[in-house]
Amino acid sequence: MNTEQALLKPITLAAGLELKNRVWMAPMTRSRADNPSNKPSEIHEKYYAQRASSGLIITEGSQVSKQAVGYINTPGIFSDVQVEGWKGVTRAVHKKGGHIFIQLWHVGRISHPDFHNGDLPLAPSAINPHEKSFTPEGFKETVTPKEMSRAEIKQTIQDFKNAGKNAMEAGFDGIEIHSSNGYLLHQFFNATSNTRRDEYGGSIENRAKILFEIIDALKEVMPEQKIGLRLNPSLNGVFGMEADEETIPTFEYIVKKLNDYDLAYLHLSEPFTDVSEIPYLVSHIAKHFRPLYKGTLVINAGFDQEKGNKVIEEGDADAVAYGTLYISNPDLVERFEQHAELASPDKDTFYTPGKKGYIDYPKLEEEKVG
Ligand SMILES: Cc1cc2nc3c(=O)[nH]c(=O)nc-3n(C[C@H](O)[C@H](O)[C@H](O)COP(=O)(O)O)c2cc1C
Repeated sequence: MNTEQALLKPITLAAGLELKNRVWMAPMTRSRADNPSNKPSEIHEKYYAQRASSGLIITEGSQVSKQAVGYINTPGIFSDVQVEGWKGVTRAVHKKGGHIFIQLWHVGRISHPDFHNGDLPLAPSAINPHEKSFTPEGFKETVTPKEMSRAEIKQTIQDFKNAGKNAMEAGFDGIEIHSSNGYLLHQFFNATSNTRRDEYGGSIENRAKILFEIIDALKEVMPEQKIGLRLNPSLNGVFGMEADEETIPTFEYIVKKLNDYDLAYLHLSEPFTDVSEIPYLVSHIAKHFRPLYKGTLVINAGFDQEKGNKVIEEGDADAVAYGTLYISNPDLVERFEQHAELASPDKDTFYTPGKKGYIDYPKLEEEKVG
């Protein structure tokens, strides 16, 4: 193996989980769980097994409860049938020598009453994100959600805990809390989406509280070394998120407090849009947050092979999570090893059911033969 490249060097996570490289697969919703129980099936097994040379696969966002859903055909991790489906996936990945975490997801206000028998989606506050929700009947305007009661917050924490327990039963190497991209937990962090006056709103500490309560609950069902989480601090104008002056201080608080734990990793995204004109946002996330966090840091968004090697060499991250490149290059690691050409993904099949655009991207040697 070519060990010259920083990306291709092994890395050991907390609790001694040895990963063969630093080329990780970012979580990506692919909407292939188009069955009544939203369980992963044989094509999920094949899709993830094809990508098992990645140092760590992070699965697509998987709803922690019926309430947590916001898109059609996304898999869940709350029912026995779903756990059985995921067992096939973890077995297939492990058989190929890979490692796999599952992303635990609650979309909050980015849902729609059509998913909840007409009831409103839940969110920290009753503020419409003015986004589109992908419902069984196509895209619809989001609505003003219901402000969560304390009991609903406690239930949601339990749902994450239960999903974590299920993930362990399904054979995952760990879980990633989806506290990113404008979904429920991110909605709690941000003062523009959280105007609560109880202990879950008002101050930075209060807005971050639910995340730490979820981590503490998960620790009751798995070692903390198997818990990772994802943050997107400079998300602005996307997924209904509007940043303000308190946004970056909130993320700084969260990241520093994560040092109290011995987690698997912290997964950060560089800004999804150009935020250089916004004085209170940070344009270089890895550079800004690396000094604040002492554990393993994985960075994502917009990286190619060169930038990936560079960010690790410069000490701003320990690993890189690749999204879209992993859709069309199941053997991304081997392609990086050989400095081979990369295939481009077909956007039209990102979220369509079935095998097309999912498990039919060839590996390099198959490309050569075919
Ligand atoms: C088809 C698709 C689905 C995605 N689904 C998720 C998801 O379920 N959870 C998540 O945290 N991010 C999701 N993302 C964001 C990716 O993880 C990643 O942040 C984004 O693609 C940028 O990385 P890249 O430049 O390497 O593609 C998705 C992105 C794409 C393209």
